[in-house]
Amino acid sequence: MRMKIIFVSLCFAILIHLSAGNKTESSVYPAWVALDYKSNPNNILISIYKKRNTTPHIPSPVDMALESFPLIDGHNDLAFLLYSKLKNNITSFNFNVNLKYKPGWEKSHTDIPRLRQGRVGGQFWSAFVFCESQYKDAVAKTLEQIDVIKRLIDKNSEHLQFAATSDGILDAFKNGKIASLIGIEGGHSIDSRLGVLRMYYELGVRYLTLTHSCDVPWATSSTKEDDDLIAVGRKLTTKVGLTEFGKKIILEMNRLGMMVDLSHVSKLVMNDALTTSVAPVIFSHSSAYCLFKHDRNVHDDILRKLKQNRGIIMITFYPGYVGGGEYGDLGIVVAHINHVVDVIGTDNIGLGGDFDGIPKTLIGLEDVSKYPDLLEALFESNPERWTQRNIEKLIGRNLVRVFREVEKVKKRLSFAEPLQDVISKDDFNLVKRNDIWVCRTSYEKKTYDRLIEKMNKTHK
Ligand SMILES: *[C@@H]1O[C@H](CO)[C@@H](O)[C@H](O)[C@H]1NC(C)=O
Ligand SMILES: *[C@@H]1O[C@H](CO)[C@@H](O)[C@H](O)[C@H]1NC(C)=O
Ligand SMILES: *[C@@H]1O[C@H](CO)[C@@H](O)[C@H](O)[C@H]1NC(C)=O
Ligand SMILES: [Zn+2]
Repeated sequence: MRMKIIFVSLCFAILIHLSAGNKTESSVYPAWVALDYKSNPNNILISIYKKRNTTPHIPSPVDMALESFPLIDGHNDLAFLLYSKLKNNITSFNFNVNLKYKPGWEKSHTDIPRLRQGRVGGQFWSAFVFCESQYKDAVAKTLEQIDVIKRLIDKNSEHLQFAATSDGILDAFKNGKIASLIGIEGGHSIDSRLGVLRMYYELGVRYLTLTHSCDVPWATSSTKEDDDLIAVGRKLTTKVGLTEFGKKIILEMNRLGMMVDLSHVSKLVMNDALTTSVAPVIFSHSSAYCLFKHDRNVHDDILRKLKQNRGIIMITFYPGYVGGGEYGDLGIVVAHINHVVDVIGTDNIGLGGDFDGIPKTLIGLEDVSKYPDLLEALFESNPERWTQRNIEKLIGRNLVRVFREVEKVKKRLSFAEPLQDVISKDDFNLVKRNDIWVCRTSYEKKTYDRLIEKMNKTHK
């Protein structure tokens, strides 16, 4: 029996759950996770708190790691909440209170007190706009999201410090502040234009997720056609990953020093991007397909290619992507992390919670204050594996290493001219929307005249 439960997440993936709580899923978790979380979901948590209370004077490897290196999360959708709840008017938005107690914000996951409690040292704030804005005002709306992120950082400069380089992250950490970076979630935000991509870089954007849950004319999304109730223009059966223009976008991102993010893209695009990019790529918020068969997750063969590429997968926490059924707790994320490490080791993994972009959370991982709990559970799962050094890699060292390599590629390519390619009309066949082409003011005056002529006719 196939029971369809449709969630509309803020992340705007529409998920099809194959019978929630599929028992075969849990059997792939390591034995310790079976810790009976179904009968008592708090077992893992209880063991963490007990340990904390009985050994208060001995700092754990987790504490020492968090002390030594910033925990950098790959994806947070707070800015989308500011848009949807406040229309980006942050005049009376106090980020320095626990929003859990603010009417209307009880379900939000992020604020300064909880970021501090969660010992977050760096955050990629997502500039996300709906797929519905594709071919319309996506660029303008993306600029508004970048603007509101920058205003939020300025307004809270006692705690947040804007960062656009790997050194910038470490500098913020030294100052006791939360490094605040910007990533754009969805290629629709560049409207298939390299000039727009370059201007985003100038504004401080340091990653672009190539698609969200809609295809763009140069890349396909992981969201399946029949899942895709909200994506615009997807009538796709074609087996396309990146088009030639899509590959140009990757190369221009390499030249600029902007990280290529492969969360949300189709497996074909993952493969194409991994063979095209000359810099390491990231998955800003994705988990392991082997443990939960959802298209948003990453297959083991892609993980191996990611290791060759020297990139990073930042494990995400959304129950709809990690599995675990109704009583799923943070142990499930621990299992995803350990699986990735089993396959590719500890150099290519990080954390990307997707907080404020998800309608449901795991028990014990309800908001940004819970990272230390996750790390304690991870340590408990395999104390030999999770040394202080390896915990540091997971929380931030790997991301900073990837960022540095991306910056090095930028330097190496500094001789190269900016790419000036214009998207081919053929690429619009990918999304089977020829009407999109006429939404664009053509470079060819003749075509433009023809449009005016047509308009003249219809207005008569
Ligand atoms: C449970 O998951 C397994 C493995 O992903 C799959 O083969 C099976 O069809 C699923 N069962 C149900 C009832 O959905
Ligand atoms: C912004 O919000 C404040 C406080 O909620 C309100 O007083 C103000 O009128 C708003 N500004 C605009 C331009 O709507
Ligand atoms: C459109 O109509 C205007 C006003 O009638 C006219 O001046 C202009 O030449 C027309 N343009 C074309 C391309 O037909
Ligand atoms: Zn997302």
